[in-house]
Amino acid sequence: MNSADLIQSETGEGILDLRINRPDKKNALNLAMYQALADGLRQADSDDAVRVILISGGRECFTSGNDLADFLDAPPTGPDSPVMQFLLAISQARKPIVAAVNGLAVGVGVTMLLHCDLAYAGSGASFQMPFVNLGLCPEAGSTLLLPRIMGHQRAAELLLLGEAFSADKACRLGIVTELCPDGDVLVIARKRALQLAAQPAAAVRLAKSLLKRDYAAQLKETIFEEGTQFMERLKSPEAAEALQAFMQRRKPDFSRFS
Ligand code: COA
Repeated sequence: MNSADLIQSETGEGILDLRINRPDKKNALNLAMYQALADGLRQADSDDAVRVILISGGRECFTSGNDLADFLDAPPTGPDSPVMQFLLAISQARKPIVAAVNGLAVGVGVTMLLHCDLAYAGSGASFQMPFVNLGLCPEAGSTLLLPRIMGHQRAAELLLLGEAFSADKACRLGIVTELCPDGDVLVIARKRALQLAAQPAAAVRLAKSLLKRDYAAQLKETIFEEGTQFMERLKSPEAAEALQAFMQRRKPDFSRFS
């Protein structure tokens, strides 16, 4: 599949639909997919036909996060890397973003929701941010945004232990706007997107930018700092062990490292 199939993009009724479509790899995001998402988000900003962006995955999986094979074979090396381009594009988007989450949301599958304005999840969805478990560090501005929305200790539990958590918990903690019956998520998210598209667009954009005004500069700086640390961590023995363990389908052993 080429990137146009892996990220399906369609504009209609004022909505840019960006659908992650790599079901055989649990919608893991590879370089081409990050680039396609970044390009779609950037183009949406200057396209008058787009008033709202709707990001979704499949019925079973939103996304299992960064493609772990890419971390080994083609790790990000700087601000021009597709993942950084995506993070900057989603965090700086002027138009409202709605997310529809079914099934698994792992890694950037969770942290990208922090940049969406409305996020709808199926009650059976499952969330996880296993950055530390992989010997890495959190990304996408999550070390700034998570404590902001839920406090340090709740954020620390999610980021330091990196366990999977339920849709109900994601909603209680403020990562998700509302839970929906599984199967209705995309319909409900689209309905909200259509509602947003019917709102006065300039007023929506202004309200969104004012909502983010007091932390926008700090967010950009945090995304860069986390990105720098993340790229260093990818070269660490801990990350090498975690990534090899995933490829070999075994549990990682971190006892050798202090
Ligand atoms: N990167 C690359 N490949 C991935 C992937 C990822 N993030 N997530 C899943 N896959 C691949 C698997 O390697 C497998 O490929 P294969 O069929 O060629 O062997 C396929 O998708 C199905 O995954 P599998 O692990 O068999 O499914 P599962 O239902 O048992 O588990 C997950 C699903 C998402 C829990 C598990 O795949 C996982 O933990 N993935 C890694 C998630 C992760 O750490 N993301 C990065 C966070 S920074």
